[in-house]
Amino acid sequence: MDFDIKDKDLASKGALRMEWAERSMPVLNTIRERFEREKPLKGIRISACLHVTTETGVLMKTLVAGGAEANICASNPLSTQDDLAATLVVNENIPVFAIKGENRETYYNHMRSVLDTKPNITMDDGADLVTEVLTERKELIPNIIGSTEETTTGVIRLRAMAKDNILQFPVIAVNDANTKHFFDNRYGTGQSTLDGIIRATNRLLAGSVFVVSGYGWCGKGLASRAKGMGANVIVTEVDPLPALEAVMDGFRVVPMSVAAKIGNFFCTVTGNKGVIRMEHINAMKDGAIISNSGHFDVEIDIESLEKEVKNKREIRDLVDEYTMGDGRRIVVIGGGRLVNLATAEGHPSAVMDMSFANQALAAEHLVNEAKNLEKKVYPVPQSLDDEIARLKLQSLGVDIDSLTAEQEEYLSSWQFGT
Ligand code: ADE
Repeated sequence: MDFDIKDKDLASKGALRMEWAERSMPVLNTIRERFEREKPLKGIRISACLHVTTETGVLMKTLVAGGAEANICASNPLSTQDDLAATLVVNENIPVFAIKGENRETYYNHMRSVLDTKPNITMDDGADLVTEVLTERKELIPNIIGSTEETTTGVIRLRAMAKDNILQFPVIAVNDANTKHFFDNRYGTGQSTLDGIIRATNRLLAGSVFVVSGYGWCGKGLASRAKGMGANVIVTEVDPLPALEAVMDGFRVVPMSVAAKIGNFFCTVTGNKGVIRMEHINAMKDGAIISNSGHFDVEIDIESLEKEVKNKREIRDLVDEYTMGDGRRIVVIGGGRLVNLATAEGHPSAVMDMSFANQALAAEHLVNEAKNLEKKVYPVPQSLDDEIARLKLQSLGVDIDSLTAEQEEYLSSWQFGT
């Protein structure tokens, strides 16, 4: 079996950590049990480009249980958990091509390696794999029945491809399922981003000024959790509607030029580039700590910072301190790559449970329905989203009411009014 990982000897540690994650993933475990019996993915080759974490390990096991031949590369050079990569190779026989800290060339080589297996389905977190297929590996297109996409940034890219008529197969936008973004993007990003910032710096959030850039689902989660830790949260936005939501959620909303002067912590979660630029960094206080939890490392202009800095040193693991000409020290975590995976372990398993249940069911849906789908971006069918919510509630031991016949009739009628 071909693979490229850091160290096979890390497998036993990875196995324990995956077992721990699995315990908080009851929905995916239920799907895995059914997959084991029914083998809905039998004979299907799946190449995934996802963050190589313990939760992703449980997903890979689920796909294999369903009969798939699955392999994986990393969707970010810094997010791989090397022990998990080792256990997938050693104990699960799943080819992994991912090493934490790999450079850009290795990152793309790893992507090429999974594509060499001629997948029928690709799974992306950021749309890099689909982009590689559509630009460099067009010969693979006839084998591909469809793809799935995990994250907001990837869905935006894929919609742009569909608009430009270059998408060559259907894609299921897992991100857009309610059981994905309501929970993963909000509670997952909220908790794991703070986790990353705290593990990297061990700084106190209480009483600090914490600037959140972007008030989408991820920004909402992050702002609410930072507030819960006692920070004074400031939000920056470019879109009037989320800005208004932030105001009514009780946050101060100001332009970045204002926030830059008062923030102690800055975290970008916009999905856009150049959110924190030199004009902002030059206004920041000594000791300001900057990080990004958006998908790509484009939100902070590190390139310009690198050019203007007087001195740079790694003061803690994955924490760079930049000393500016005027003596101010600006701190950047994880090189501007997503902080929740670079310096923590990503979202907790309990939310990834639903995200990856969507991935597993989306793969099954593609096997059954791809022939009826066009070269477009599709939502996860509502029935699958509802099923995942139902299973999650069940696993939490939460019962809910059902509609009475009278209520059903009322909801489907228009005659009853004032
Ligand atoms: N994205 C965010 N958190 C993640 C995790 N724990 N595993 C895989 N992908 C993630």
